[in-house]
Amino acid sequence: MISPVKTAEWAQVRAHAQRIAPLHLRQMFADDPQRDRRFWVSACGFDLDYAKQRVDTAVMQALFALADAAQLGAWRQRLYEGQWVNNTEQRAALHMALRAPREDAQFASVCAEVHTVVDAMRVFSAQVRDGSLRGADGRAFTDVINLGIGGSDLGPRMVCAALADDQDGPRVHFVANVDGAELHPLLQRLEPATTLIIVTSKSFTTQETIANARRARQWLVQALGESAVADHFVAISTHHAEVDAFGITRARTFGFWEWVGGRYSLWSAVGLSIMLALGADRFDALRAGAYAMDQHFLTAPHAQNLPVLLGLLGVWNRNFLRCDSQILAPYAQRLEMLVPWLQQLEMESNGKGVDRSGHPVAYDTTPALWGGIGCNGQHAYFQMLHQGPAIHAVDFVLPIAARHPYAEMHQMLKANCLAQSAALMRGKTADEVRAELLASGMDEADIRKALPHRVFAGNRPSNTLLMPRLDAWHLGALLALYEHRCFVQSVLWNINPFDQWGVELGKQLAKQLLRHDHLAEMDASTRALAARVGLWGSGSD
Ligand code: F6P
Repeated sequence: MISPVKTAEWAQVRAHAQRIAPLHLRQMFADDPQRDRRFWVSACGFDLDYAKQRVDTAVMQALFALADAAQLGAWRQRLYEGQWVNNTEQRAALHMALRAPREDAQFASVCAEVHTVVDAMRVFSAQVRDGSLRGADGRAFTDVINLGIGGSDLGPRMVCAALADDQDGPRVHFVANVDGAELHPLLQRLEPATTLIIVTSKSFTTQETIANARRARQWLVQALGESAVADHFVAISTHHAEVDAFGITRARTFGFWEWVGGRYSLWSAVGLSIMLALGADRFDALRAGAYAMDQHFLTAPHAQNLPVLLGLLGVWNRNFLRCDSQILAPYAQRLEMLVPWLQQLEMESNGKGVDRSGHPVAYDTTPALWGGIGCNGQHAYFQMLHQGPAIHAVDFVLPIAARHPYAEMHQMLKANCLAQSAALMRGKTADEVRAELLASGMDEADIRKALPHRVFAGNRPSNTLLMPRLDAWHLGALLALYEHRCFVQSVLWNINPFDQWGVELGKQLAKQLLRHDHLAEMDASTRALAARVGLWGSGSD
């Protein structure tokens, strides 16, 4: 494929960006009374309002043409058919198969093994939840610890937090960091006899996870003896030899496959902690919601296709309007962990500087993705979104119905969410500020001084994504929506979103530093720091 920036379609979109540049969204709303309906799409229970993006119909048509030039349809088909879309690791990326129903003919080659594992998880989690499967001294499990990092942590951790209102199983805790400050206080508080420990690691060699697992094993063995390991440890991995070496039995190992990327793995056995906390029915509902979004992504035309629209708007903001970063602002306390989950998804997938063939890209790829709970952010980072010189694109995510009984508070939350996107879009002109200050009784000299600080440029783009409520089904659909947005963008940027070579160098150097290996090759700064923090004594090797 030729570089996307060299296509006529890219040039077309660029021309539209130049045309749009002097236009203000306020004016675009005033000029088009249909704007709210024109840029509103509903699917899978979600409503996407993208009227506050700096687009018009011609821009959208040009973006659809760009998607066609990048062969989005063909790439989506390759993904769906299980072709080697991950070309640097010669692998498919079949996360859609993980949520497909048993009878889905498309995934016949893998569906049987996927469902064999899900069935085994179902039996295991039911037994833990009803207390028929017990610890070494015969007591039921009250607590579960998931030890994992990256995709082996963020997905299940986020889902359990998002659906905390549905938790009806054992308490589930997550430990990722090799900073013992995460594991130590937890182990101090839990009882070994009633704790089940899941070591979740695709490779089963990840330093942080294995270090946590060893410590947890010591803690358990000290209290209950070596023989308790078989009853209290579970492994989730694709690498059975490493699991065996750690001493976890095959009977307590739930497998998955190389074609499941870490950041797409919560739908696989990696979701065991979800099933334990919420039950198999909710895990099924989560997967069913994702499956519904998969079907929508695979079949809906561009103009009605939520992941395609979000992906194209992301590229428009990043490459054509030069937005500095992408913000995710969920107006739902329970979605706090959605931001770190999405950070891994987007930045590990599309944070690449070479295209599929290994050629350096001559355009920006993923923007920095960050954010946090919208309501709290209003009193923190939103200042920069409203008045900072750089423009950031924002996704507002809002469940319409609350899952708590404080109706008036949920009304406030909704009002705040809508107010923020409106404020970013319309801004406040100098004339409006002046009129307001005059009405407040301020004199002319003070108004002159105050005015520049109180003007809002506006014209700042955002999406508002509404979901009926935060339940397992809609959460599954939301996560699949973002997975597919990420894929759409990778196609537009012509990069492989399924590898992550960029995480390797740091891992290698950390090992060297720990083992005092090849230290002469380390730079002087790192050697001095290593000596100062006590990694080795003299600073020399
Ligand atoms: O270091 C990055 C990474 O490989 C992620 O892609 C992955 O999700 C995480 O580490 C954990 O890997 P594993 O499941 O093999 O422990």
